[in-house]
Amino acid sequence: MTPIWRLDWDESLSVCIPEIDAEHRHFMQLINELNEAIVGRMGMAQIKSCMQAVIYDAEAHFAHEEALFREWDYPETEQHMSRHAEIIQALHEIMGRFEHDGLEYELIEAGLAVKAALIEHLLTEDMKYRDYCLVSGNRCGTDA
Ligand SMILES: [Fe+2]
Ligand SMILES: [Fe+2]
Repeated sequence: MTPIWRLDWDESLSVCIPEIDAEHRHFMQLINELNEAIVGRMGMAQIKSCMQAVIYDAEAHFAHEEALFREWDYPETEQHMSRHAEIIQALHEIMGRFEHDGLEYELIEAGLAVKAALIEHLLTEDMKYRDYCLVSGNRCGTDA
């Protein structure tokens, strides 16, 4: 009954900015590692270390996106930044659940919550700046 899932990259997830696509691929990899640690019952120390890696990675990635928004004069910067802040808060809240040994299903749900928060953000908010860049011609399809 253990849910086995794995995030795999495909082109529909591309925001047309190679450096950002690379970061999104990387955090999908970290989410997979977190899930593997949970379903593989690798122990709380390992699970927490994977979760910490997700948080550091999300913080660095969000800061990078926000720097690009300023460069582009992206009109939805404020709204997007507040979504980022909410996700970081949610990730810390999930990390808190790992502080006391949870039941297996609670850990699995925590892994799913991390996946849902980050992937939903990519598919909704991040796709809005992809569309903006496509229309405005900002860096789209170019490398750093
Ligand atoms: Fe992103
Ligand atoms: Fe974002």
